[in-house]
Amino acid sequence: MSGADNPPAGALQQQDGLAERLRAALGAITIEDDSQRPKQNYAFWGTQPVAQFNEQPSTSVSDGPIDKPKTVADVRKEPYGLPQNFEWVTCNIDNDGELKEIYELLSAHYVEDDDNMFRFAYSREFLHWALQPPGYKALWHCGVRVSSTGKLVAFISGIPATVRVNATSLKTVEINFLCVHKKLRHKRLAPVLIKASTATEITRRVNLHDIWQAVYTAGVLLPKPVAECQYWHRSLNPKKLISIGFSRLAPRMTMARTLKLYKLPKQPQTPGMRQMEARDVATLLAAYLKDYAIAPVLDEEEVRHWLSYQPDVVHTYVVEAPDGRLTDLLSFYTLPSSVIGNEQYDNLKAAYMFYTVPAATPLPQLMNDALILAHATGHDVFNALDIFENEKILKELKFGIGDGKLRYYLFNWRVAQEMPSNKVGLIML
Ligand SMILES: CC(C)(COP(=O)(O)OP(=O)(O)OC[C@H]1O[C@@H](n2cnc3c(N)ncnc32)[C@H](O)[C@@H]1OP(=O)(O)O)[C@@H](O)C(=O)NCCC(=O)NCCS
Repeated sequence: MSGADNPPAGALQQQDGLAERLRAALGAITIEDDSQRPKQNYAFWGTQPVAQFNEQPSTSVSDGPIDKPKTVADVRKEPYGLPQNFEWVTCNIDNDGELKEIYELLSAHYVEDDDNMFRFAYSREFLHWALQPPGYKALWHCGVRVSSTGKLVAFISGIPATVRVNATSLKTVEINFLCVHKKLRHKRLAPVLIKASTATEITRRVNLHDIWQAVYTAGVLLPKPVAECQYWHRSLNPKKLISIGFSRLAPRMTMARTLKLYKLPKQPQTPGMRQMEARDVATLLAAYLKDYAIAPVLDEEEVRHWLSYQPDVVHTYVVEAPDGRLTDLLSFYTLPSSVIGNEQYDNLKAAYMFYTVPAATPLPQLMNDALILAHATGHDVFNALDIFENEKILKELKFGIGDGKLRYYLFNWRVAQEMPSNKVGLIML
């Protein structure tokens, strides 16, 4: 075998071109991620209870809330003002028509890559899964409509989640799917949406606990990340990826050699690997997540929700030992992107690594099985962050490094120290 058949991963980055194309985009990361440095002034975020870039480091800083505890009286009751001819709505995603509106808004206006070649295309089934975990609140699926036409032009969602940050378990809202119609960009609508999505939560939670935190991720650099992570991409269908401009044929590589390089077996290699059934894997996952500085705290019902196999939404497999014990878990989710303006393909099917627990099976073998299963179910590329223990194994599995970041943020919670990516054990969709 020549060196080029099996290049070091650093070389893979140049040869494959994955790093040039969509380094970030298909990793939920970043159209705006052109700057790694903080802006001079954050007109909105500078006023919010989030850690700021210019805070003086202090040895006495410890984890804790930023805002003073509030009472219901402190909380604004009336909705945040919208420009004339726009109105707030609660989107009912159990209504097919309303779900279709969200789907269409996101399909046309959600995250794109820098070159506007790819745009996330979350499926309706995926949106159901992502927005309706146990205990979800319909009220936290906030939309903005044009009053005169009823057209849905913006959306933001929250879901309840308990997240452990270092030693503290926080009842949080996970904010996601912030999207403003392209024609309404740069009109300061996003801050209004963000405030609204948090205000509904404040009203309820202050009553119950006198606390309130939110967790969110973004490619863009805002005050102030608790962790910065990096996406890696592994070609599963290199011919298509090259054809749609996601990657390039590397110098001195033929298509035949590229196909050979990324070829995978047809079946998983780990004995006892099977699709997860609605059985309990909560203990396995909970024990594993204890090692991470930020991680979800999931009860059994939540584990079932997040990990039960759903075709083309979430793929979960377990390794069952001969005595019936479940020893390992692997999962990934399906997030396609629209391919913009390509005559041959209109869709790129990406798999994203989800919660994976190596125990009896070494992580590289488990992850290799994830690649095999993703390939066998028609995915074109497999994306993973350098969270958990991934960084140690991505190169050997022929992932190419991206150069965009995914940042994790906490609202109204300060951490004493930023976390390295290998201490992150939380995955947001
Ligand atoms: C993200 C998006 C809603 C921002 O809307 P916009 O019209 O560009 O921005 P607005 O003028 O309304 O508001 C700007 C403020 O929002 C902040 N902002 C921009 N993107 C943000 C994000 N992803 N998360 C949180 N805040 C964000 C900006 O930093 C700015 O605040 P600042 O003055 O304190 O810096 C819009 O660009 C969009 O829908 N993009 C495509 C989907 C997307 O990227 N969603 C976010 C996924 S993480």
